[in-house]
Amino acid sequence: MSNYRIIDRLVLDSVAERNALIAGLFARPASISPKYFYDELGCALFCAICELPEYYPTRTEVAIFRDYRQEIAHAAGAGKQLVDLGAGDCCKAASWLPYFQPWRYLAVDIARAPINKALSGLAPEFPEIEMLGIVTDFARALNLHADLQDLPATFFYPGSSIGNFSPEEALAFLVQIRGHCGTPGSGLLIGVDAKKDKRRLEAAYDDAVGVTAAFNRNVLAHVNRLLGSDFRPEAFAHRGLYNEAAGRIEMHLEALSNQEVSIAGRIRRFRVGERIHTENSYKYGPIEFEALLRRAGFDDIRLWQDAKQQFCVFYAE
Ligand code: AVJ
Repeated sequence: MSNYRIIDRLVLDSVAERNALIAGLFARPASISPKYFYDELGCALFCAICELPEYYPTRTEVAIFRDYRQEIAHAAGAGKQLVDLGAGDCCKAASWLPYFQPWRYLAVDIARAPINKALSGLAPEFPEIEMLGIVTDFARALNLHADLQDLPATFFYPGSSIGNFSPEEALAFLVQIRGHCGTPGSGLLIGVDAKKDKRRLEAAYDDAVGVTAAFNRNVLAHVNRLLGSDFRPEAFAHRGLYNEAAGRIEMHLEALSNQEVSIAGRIRRFRVGERIHTENSYKYGPIEFEALLRRAGFDDIRLWQDAKQQFCVFYAE
Protein backbone atom coordinates (compact mmCIF):
# COMPACT_ATOMS: atom_id res chain seq x y z
CA MET A 1 0.00 0.00 0.00
CA SER A 2 1.32 3.41 -0.86
CA ASN A 3 0.78 6.05 1.75
CA TYR A 4 0.79 9.19 -0.35
CA ARG A 5 -1.66 11.47 -2.12
CA ILE A 6 -1.31 14.03 -4.89
CA ILE A 7 -3.48 17.13 -4.85
CA ASP A 8 -3.61 18.96 -8.17
CA ARG A 9 -4.26 22.67 -7.78
CA LEU A 10 -2.87 23.67 -11.16
CA VAL A 11 -5.31 24.96 -13.71
CA LEU A 12 -3.35 23.68 -16.67
CA ASP A 13 -4.80 25.58 -19.59
CA SER A 14 -6.18 28.48 -17.67
CA VAL A 15 -7.00 31.27 -20.09
CA ALA A 16 -5.04 33.83 -18.06
CA GLU A 17 -1.85 31.73 -18.14
CA ARG A 18 -2.11 31.24 -21.86
CA ASN A 19 -2.78 34.93 -22.49
CA ALA A 20 0.18 35.94 -20.32
CA LEU A 21 2.44 33.61 -22.30
CA ILE A 22 1.19 35.03 -25.62
CA ALA A 23 1.50 38.63 -24.39
CA GLY A 24 5.12 37.95 -23.37
CA LEU A 25 5.94 36.61 -26.83
CA PHE A 26 4.48 39.67 -28.58
CA ALA A 27 6.07 42.15 -26.15
CA ARG A 28 9.26 44.01 -27.07
CA PRO A 29 11.53 42.66 -25.81
CA ALA A 30 9.82 39.28 -25.87
CA SER A 31 9.93 37.06 -22.80
CA ILE A 32 8.88 33.60 -21.63
CA SER A 33 8.54 32.76 -17.93
CA PRO A 34 11.19 30.26 -16.77
CA LYS A 35 8.43 28.04 -15.40
CA TYR A 36 7.88 26.87 -18.99
CA PHE A 37 11.33 25.22 -19.01
CA TYR A 38 10.00 22.31 -17.01
CA ASP A 39 8.17 19.96 -19.35
CA GLU A 40 9.30 16.34 -19.21
CA LEU A 41 12.39 16.85 -21.37
CA GLY A 42 13.11 20.14 -19.58
CA CYS A 43 13.12 18.39 -16.19
CA ALA A 44 15.53 15.77 -17.59
CA LEU A 45 17.77 18.48 -19.07
CA PHE A 46 17.80 20.35 -15.76
CA CYS A 47 18.94 17.11 -14.06
CA ALA A 48 21.70 16.90 -16.67
CA ILE A 49 22.69 20.53 -15.97
CA CYS A 50 23.17 19.59 -12.30
CA GLU A 51 25.77 17.01 -13.41
CA LEU A 52 27.80 19.49 -15.50
CA PRO A 53 31.30 20.31 -14.25
CA GLU A 54 30.58 24.03 -14.85
CA TYR A 55 27.29 24.06 -12.93
CA TYR A 56 28.63 24.33 -9.37
CA PRO A 57 25.44 25.34 -7.41
CA THR A 58 23.82 21.90 -6.94
CA ARG A 59 27.07 20.14 -6.11
CA THR A 60 28.21 22.91 -3.76
CA GLU A 61 24.90 22.97 -1.92
CA VAL A 62 24.96 19.18 -1.54
CA ALA A 63 28.49 19.46 -0.11
CA ILE A 64 27.38 22.11 2.42
CA PHE A 65 24.42 19.90 3.41
CA ARG A 66 26.80 16.94 3.83
CA ASP A 67 29.50 18.84 5.74
CA TYR A 68 27.09 20.55 8.14
CA ARG A 69 24.36 17.89 8.27
CA GLN A 70 24.20 17.65 12.09
CA GLU A 71 24.45 21.38 12.73
CA ILE A 72 21.73 22.19 10.22
CA ALA A 73 19.51 19.38 11.49
CA HIS A 74 19.97 20.63 15.04
CA ALA A 75 19.07 24.20 14.04
CA ALA A 76 15.89 23.11 12.22
CA GLY A 77 14.88 20.51 14.80
CA ALA A 78 13.05 17.23 14.25
CA GLY A 79 9.52 15.82 14.28
CA LYS A 80 7.90 18.72 12.42
CA GLN A 81 6.10 19.10 9.10
CA LEU A 82 8.51 19.39 6.17
CA VAL A 83 7.46 21.54 3.22
CA ASP A 84 9.58 21.07 0.09
CA LEU A 85 9.08 24.03 -2.27
CA GLY A 86 9.92 23.06 -5.86
CA ALA A 87 10.42 19.45 -4.80
CA GLY A 88 11.11 18.09 -8.31
CA ASP A 89 12.46 14.55 -7.91
CA CYS A 90 12.47 15.05 -4.08
CA CYS A 91 16.13 13.91 -3.95
CA LYS A 92 17.40 16.80 -1.85
CA ALA A 93 14.61 16.53 0.72
CA ALA A 94 14.93 12.73 0.82
CA SER A 95 18.45 13.08 2.16
CA TRP A 96 17.06 15.15 5.06
CA LEU A 97 14.17 12.83 6.01
CA PRO A 98 16.24 10.66 8.39
CA TYR A 99 17.46 13.82 10.16
CA PHE A 100 14.33 15.99 10.23
CA GLN A 101 12.11 12.94 10.85
CA PRO A 102 8.99 14.86 9.84
CA TRP A 103 5.61 13.38 10.63
CA ARG A 104 4.31 14.92 7.40
CA TYR A 105 6.14 15.67 4.16
CA LEU A 106 4.59 18.08 1.64
CA ALA A 107 6.24 17.97 -1.80
CA VAL A 108 5.15 21.09 -3.68
CA ASP A 109 5.91 21.55 -7.38
CA ILE A 110 4.50 22.89 -10.63
CA ALA A 111 5.26 19.55 -12.36
CA ARG A 112 3.12 16.57 -11.36
CA ALA A 113 5.05 13.66 -12.92
CA PRO A 114 8.34 14.00 -10.99
CA ILE A 115 6.72 14.33 -7.54
CA ASN A 116 4.34 11.48 -8.27
CA LYS A 117 7.25 9.23 -9.25
CA ALA A 118 9.37 10.36 -6.30
CA LEU A 119 6.63 9.92 -3.70
CA SER A 120 5.75 6.44 -4.98
CA GLY A 121 9.37 5.48 -4.23
CA LEU A 122 9.72 7.40 -0.93
CA ALA A 123 6.40 6.48 0.70
CA PRO A 124 7.21 2.76 1.20
CA GLU A 125 10.70 3.68 2.40
CA PHE A 126 9.31 6.00 5.10
CA PRO A 127 5.96 4.46 6.05
CA GLU A 128 5.83 6.52 9.25
CA ILE A 129 5.71 9.81 7.29
CA GLU A 130 2.46 11.08 5.83
CA MET A 131 3.34 12.15 2.27
CA LEU A 132 1.45 14.65 0.20
CA GLY A 133 2.23 16.02 -3.26
CA ILE A 134 0.77 19.43 -4.06
CA VAL A 135 0.82 20.44 -7.72
CA THR A 136 0.65 24.22 -7.86
CA ASP A 137 2.38 27.31 -9.20
CA PHE A 138 3.42 28.48 -5.74
CA ALA A 139 5.59 31.26 -7.18
CA ARG A 140 2.45 33.25 -7.90
CA ALA A 141 0.92 32.85 -4.47
CA LEU A 142 1.96 30.57 -1.64
CA ASN A 143 -1.06 29.22 0.14
CA LEU A 144 -0.51 25.97 1.98
CA HIS A 145 -2.62 26.86 5.00
CA ALA A 146 -5.17 24.17 4.09
CA ASP A 147 -2.45 21.49 3.83
CA LEU A 148 -0.60 22.34 7.05
CA GLN A 149 -1.61 21.82 10.63
CA ASP A 150 -1.14 24.47 13.28
CA LEU A 151 2.11 22.81 14.30
CA PRO A 152 5.76 23.63 13.54
CA ALA A 153 6.82 23.37 9.91
CA THR A 154 10.23 23.49 8.27
CA PHE A 155 10.17 25.10 4.83
CA PHE A 156 12.85 23.84 2.45
CA TYR A 157 13.70 25.97 -0.59
CA PRO A 158 17.05 24.74 -1.93
CA GLY A 159 18.97 25.16 -5.19
CA SER A 160 18.86 28.95 -5.35
CA SER A 161 15.41 28.74 -6.93
CA ILE A 162 14.78 32.06 -5.16
CA GLY A 163 17.10 33.51 -7.82
CA ASN A 164 14.34 33.38 -10.43
CA PHE A 165 12.54 36.16 -8.54
CA SER A 166 13.65 39.77 -8.69
CA PRO A 167 14.85 40.99 -5.26
CA GLU A 168 11.47 42.71 -4.68
CA GLU A 169 9.57 39.56 -5.65
CA ALA A 170 11.95 37.46 -3.53
CA LEU A 171 11.18 39.67 -0.53
CA ALA A 172 7.43 39.30 -1.15
CA PHE A 173 7.83 35.52 -1.44
CA LEU A 174 9.89 35.32 1.77
CA VAL A 175 7.18 37.36 3.51
CA GLN A 176 4.66 34.73 2.35
CA ILE A 177 6.81 31.91 3.75
CA ARG A 178 7.21 33.88 6.99
CA GLY A 179 3.42 34.14 7.05
CA HIS A 180 3.29 30.33 7.16
CA CYS A 181 5.82 30.22 10.05
CA GLY A 182 3.54 31.56 12.78
CA THR A 183 3.92 28.49 14.97
CA PRO A 184 7.07 28.67 17.15
CA GLY A 185 9.69 26.21 15.89
CA SER A 186 8.79 26.88 12.26
CA GLY A 187 11.52 28.12 9.94
CA LEU A 188 13.08 28.21 6.50
CA LEU A 189 16.09 26.28 5.19
CA ILE A 190 17.12 27.96 1.95
CA GLY A 191 20.00 27.68 -0.53
CA VAL A 192 21.17 30.82 -2.32
CA ASP A 193 23.84 31.20 -4.98
CA ALA A 194 26.48 33.81 -4.16
CA LYS A 195 27.78 36.65 -6.30
CA LYS A 196 31.13 35.75 -7.82
CA ASP A 197 33.30 36.50 -10.82
CA LYS A 198 31.62 36.82 -14.19
CA ARG A 199 33.63 34.12 -15.92
CA ARG A 200 32.70 31.40 -13.50
CA LEU A 201 29.05 32.45 -13.50
CA GLU A 202 28.79 32.59 -17.28
CA ALA A 203 30.45 29.18 -17.68
CA ALA A 204 27.79 27.70 -15.36
CA TYR A 205 25.04 29.03 -17.67
CA ASP A 206 26.76 28.38 -21.01
CA ASP A 207 28.46 25.01 -20.65
CA ALA A 208 30.90 23.54 -23.16
CA VAL A 209 28.70 20.54 -24.03
CA GLY A 210 25.61 22.66 -24.73
CA VAL A 211 23.20 21.14 -22.21
CA THR A 212 22.09 24.57 -20.98
CA ALA A 213 21.61 25.66 -24.59
CA ALA A 214 19.35 22.64 -25.16
CA PHE A 215 17.47 23.40 -21.92
CA ASN A 216 16.93 26.98 -23.07
CA ARG A 217 15.88 26.10 -26.65
CA ASN A 218 13.56 23.35 -25.40
CA VAL A 219 11.30 26.04 -23.93
CA LEU A 220 10.28 26.84 -27.54
CA ALA A 221 9.25 23.22 -28.17
CA HIS A 222 7.20 23.33 -24.98
CA VAL A 223 5.58 26.62 -26.01
CA ASN A 224 4.77 25.11 -29.42
CA ARG A 225 2.89 22.28 -27.72
CA LEU A 226 1.04 24.66 -25.39
CA LEU A 227 0.07 27.26 -28.01
CA GLY A 228 0.26 25.39 -31.31
CA SER A 229 2.92 27.91 -32.43
CA ASP A 230 5.68 27.04 -34.93
CA PHE A 231 8.91 28.22 -33.32
CA ARG A 232 12.00 26.49 -34.73
CA PRO A 233 14.24 25.98 -31.69
CA GLU A 234 17.27 25.54 -33.97
CA ALA A 235 16.71 29.05 -35.37
CA PHE A 236 17.62 30.61 -31.99
CA ALA A 237 20.98 30.75 -30.24
CA HIS A 238 21.42 30.34 -26.50
CA ARG A 239 22.84 33.27 -24.55
CA GLY A 240 23.75 33.11 -20.86
CA LEU A 241 25.17 36.42 -19.70
CA TYR A 242 25.95 37.95 -16.30
CA ASN A 243 24.43 41.39 -15.85
CA GLU A 244 26.77 42.63 -13.16
CA ALA A 245 24.87 45.86 -12.42
CA ALA A 246 21.66 43.90 -11.76
CA GLY A 247 23.48 40.99 -10.02
CA ARG A 248 21.83 38.41 -12.23
CA ILE A 249 22.48 35.85 -14.93
CA GLU A 250 20.18 36.45 -17.87
CA MET A 251 19.27 33.75 -20.33
CA HIS A 252 18.03 34.73 -23.75
CA LEU A 253 17.22 33.05 -27.05
CA GLU A 254 18.62 35.09 -29.92
CA ALA A 255 17.13 34.87 -33.43
CA LEU A 256 19.77 33.64 -35.89
CA SER A 257 17.89 35.09 -38.89
CA ASN A 258 14.91 37.25 -39.69
CA GLN A 259 11.93 34.99 -39.22
CA GLU A 260 8.20 34.77 -38.77
CA VAL A 261 6.50 32.70 -36.14
CA SER A 262 2.80 31.96 -36.11
CA ILE A 263 1.43 32.21 -32.57
CA ALA A 264 -2.26 31.83 -31.73
CA GLY A 265 -3.42 32.98 -35.15
CA ARG A 266 -1.07 35.97 -35.33
CA ILE A 267 2.38 36.44 -36.81
CA ARG A 268 5.34 37.53 -34.67
CA ARG A 269 8.31 38.72 -36.71
CA PHE A 270 11.76 38.36 -35.16
CA ARG A 271 14.71 40.24 -36.61
CA VAL A 272 18.15 38.66 -36.65
CA GLY A 273 19.75 39.29 -33.26
CA GLU A 274 16.43 39.94 -31.53
CA ARG A 275 16.17 38.21 -28.17
CA ILE A 276 13.56 36.41 -26.14
CA HIS A 277 14.34 36.77 -22.43
CA THR A 278 13.78 33.36 -20.80
CA GLU A 279 15.31 33.59 -17.33
CA ASN A 280 16.86 35.73 -14.63
CA SER A 281 18.94 34.04 -11.99
CA TYR A 282 19.81 36.55 -9.24
CA LYS A 283 22.92 36.13 -7.11
CA TYR A 284 23.30 37.50 -3.58
CA GLY A 285 26.15 38.28 -1.27
CA PRO A 286 25.63 36.57 2.13
CA ILE A 287 25.09 39.89 3.93
CA GLU A 288 22.71 41.06 1.23
CA PHE A 289 20.54 37.94 1.51
CA GLU A 290 20.58 37.97 5.30
CA ALA A 291 19.22 41.55 5.14
CA LEU A 292 16.44 40.33 2.84
CA LEU A 293 15.52 37.59 5.35
CA ARG A 294 15.41 40.17 8.14
CA ARG A 295 13.22 42.49 6.09
CA ALA A 296 10.87 39.53 5.53
CA GLY A 297 10.48 39.18 9.29
CA PHE A 298 12.96 36.43 10.14
CA ASP A 299 15.25 37.37 13.04
CA ASP A 300 17.10 34.21 14.07
CA ILE A 301 19.37 33.51 11.12
CA ARG A 302 22.23 31.06 10.64
CA LEU A 303 24.50 30.72 7.62
CA TRP A 304 26.69 27.91 6.28
CA GLN A 305 29.00 28.22 3.27
CA ASP A 306 31.55 26.16 1.38
CA ALA A 307 35.24 27.02 1.78
CA LYS A 308 35.26 29.03 -1.47
CA GLN A 309 32.06 30.86 -0.45
CA GLN A 310 30.37 30.07 -3.73
CA PHE A 311 27.00 29.20 -2.20
CA CYS A 312 25.02 30.02 0.96
CA VAL A 313 22.69 27.90 3.05
CA PHE A 314 20.56 29.80 5.56
CA TYR A 315 18.29 28.58 8.31
CA ALA A 316 15.97 31.36 9.45
CA GLU A 317 13.23 31.51 12.08
C1 AVJ B 1 16.52 26.17 -10.96
C2 AVJ B 1 16.43 28.53 -11.12
C3 AVJ B 1 17.99 27.51 -9.64
O1 AVJ B 1 18.99 29.60 -11.95
O2 AVJ B 1 20.59 28.17 -11.71
C4 AVJ B 1 20.09 26.38 -14.49
C5 AVJ B 1 17.88 27.18 -13.40
N1 AVJ B 1 18.90 27.78 -15.60
N2 AVJ B 1 20.72 26.64 -15.64
C6 AVJ B 1 19.41 28.45 -11.90
C7 AVJ B 1 18.94 27.11 -14.46
C8 AVJ B 1 19.99 27.47 -16.32
C9 AVJ B 1 18.40 27.30 -12.01
N3 AVJ B 1 17.33 27.38 -10.96
